[in-house]
Amino acid sequence: MNLPNLPNLLNLPCARPSRLRAFVAALGLAGAAFAPLAQAATPAEMLAGYTAESGKPASAARGQQIFTTRQGGEWSCASCHGAVPTQAGRHASTDKPIKPLAPAFNPERFTDAAKSEKWFRRNCKDVMRRECSAAEKADVLSWLITLKR
Ligand code: HEC
Repeated sequence: MNLPNLPNLLNLPCARPSRLRAFVAALGLAGAAFAPLAQAATPAEMLAGYTAESGKPASAARGQQIFTTRQGGEWSCASCHGAVPTQAGRHASTDKPIKPLAPAFNPERFTDAAKSEKWFRRNCKDVMRRECSAAEKADVLSWLITLKR
């Protein structure tokens, strides 16, 4: 798991209440690293962590763009997860069903930081031929969080 680093965290603008909540959530995430349940998290906490690490605000529009277009590899994220991942997707090579990725449609998503990190790493390597940056993860996750029932 990438922990938010403190200098970036302290630069977070705290003018809006939502930012303040994200800031507090990120602090909670940093604190959780030292607790036994280190990996338990919420999607909002994970987003706060990636945003703090990247040092700039997440963009849902950019996240959607990353998710739905090819980024150098043969597949896009949408190839397996669907262009609007509020429904089950299908693995592009094995055809196995994949549960919805948007957290509002699958409450298990982004609640286990180690699991999310593992799949970000693996899937970004498939799609981008490299790992995603913290900013890219923040963008994608911020878009996924906007998908509501
Ligand atoms: C080749 C198929 C494939 C592609 C392409 C793919 N994924 Fe996945 N993804 C999977 C599978 C399989 C899983 C694990 C099974 C599951 O959790 O349902 C998964 C799980 C994830 C998870 C774990 C979420 C959680 O916390 O449970 C994230 C995050 C994720 N993918 C993001 C992405 C992103 C971002 C991209 C594009 C850069 C992408 N995936 C492209 C197949 C794919």
